[in-house]
Amino acid sequence: MGRPADDLARWIPRLLSHWRRGRRDAPRGPRPPPDRLTPPELREVAAGVERLSRGLTRDRALAGERYLDDPRLLGAYLLFYWPVSYLQARGVLSELPASPRSVLDLGSGPGPLALAALDAGAAEALCADRAARALAAARALAGEARLALETRPWDPARGAPLASLAAGRRLDAVTLGHVLNELSPGPGGEGDVERRAALLAEAAGLLAPGGSVVVIEPALRDTSRALLRVRDLLVARGFAVRAPCLFRGPCPALPRESDWCHAERPIEPPPLVAEIGKAAGLRKESVKMSYLVLAPPGEGWAEPPPGRLFRIVSEPLPSKGRLRYMGCGPEGRLGLALQEKHVGEPNRRFERLLRGDVVELTEVEPRGDGLRLGPGSSVRVIAAAGSPVPGVTAPPPGATR
Ligand SMILES: C[S@@+](CC[C@H](N)C(=O)[O-])C[C@H]1O[C@@H](n2cnc3c(N)ncnc32)[C@H](O)[C@@H]1O
Repeated sequence: MGRPADDLARWIPRLLSHWRRGRRDAPRGPRPPPDRLTPPELREVAAGVERLSRGLTRDRALAGERYLDDPRLLGAYLLFYWPVSYLQARGVLSELPASPRSVLDLGSGPGPLALAALDAGAAEALCADRAARALAAARALAGEARLALETRPWDPARGAPLASLAAGRRLDAVTLGHVLNELSPGPGGEGDVERRAALLAEAAGLLAPGGSVVVIEPALRDTSRALLRVRDLLVARGFAVRAPCLFRGPCPALPRESDWCHAERPIEPPPLVAEIGKAAGLRKESVKMSYLVLAPPGEGWAEPPPGRLFRIVSEPLPSKGRLRYMGCGPEGRLGLALQEKHVGEPNRRFERLLRGDVVELTEVEPRGDGLRLGPGSSVRVIAAAGSPVPGVTAPPPGATR
């Protein structure tokens, strides 16, 4: 397993050559570069990315539609969104207790999550989707990389149980990338939440002990809040969350309409993705996503290490001589603040925290709606964003796997 960015760089020529092979109306000319688009190709792909971006993240007119059956939109997905989903998946898989060996990827499209799992150490992956053209792309990409990937048609609206996909196998992970919000693309009302929760519960029922259901959703306020409602319903029904939550009660981001929860990981996008993003007016210096990792039914919540722990769930919020973040931990979602005049050796790390880091704080005191750090408070990062939390998603120090 290499660095995700290096592994992704190897996919770029494969994605490009697959896309080029599928363009029946491609103009003839000199052989194009294997890892970059020619100017006319760039215009064509950027136009597709603009349509996808509008339809999936702004007016949402494409959510729930069969857009990947359109070769132009599938091409735009492969060259721009596929690499982003791949990096998101690698980012979440790196938080799991162990690399999954056997994976079912639901709503896989052209397979970025399944292929990310295979690159991260999985031995076999099954992609399931209703878009036959996208499944063919996943098979072709895996074939080029000599990876063990199978595909099956899947449409939950047709009612076939998920167990028929798993065919009796116990799975280490069931992944769902950017699909939950498309299955019932309503406003996330009670019916949608119930249907989505039922699907995740069914997926969790296919897991081997220690396995995980991995859900990645867009970092949009509405889709993120809908995922939080699904999380709450599953937690109320006894499911344990492996990540990102350290709080076991109802999600404290839900009561205020303006609150939601997402992760953000800085990336250096491959030149192809940066170029398409620039042409389509979309920036990609970081990948943002909402995500949820669930344990199988019957597995309890893992015990976090002792101490006052918080996952940082905001960007830095500087104001009038102090720095603040929102933190969410076993005691809930609280503001964490440190005044500039109190910065010293034990708490200096506070100035460089990233969304997603899990920190242990000492000597904090209640102040307003949160906690105040003082000159004697220490700040220790126990898990950097995207890495396992000791005792929760990683074995405690000294334990064997
Ligand atoms: C945004 S794409 C995500 C693809 C990939 N999982 C990723 O994360 O990049 C959403 C996928 O969900 C699939 N999808 C949407 N509604 C579906 C349904 N009712 N049944 C099966 N697949 C569906 C689409 O065909 C598409 O492949």
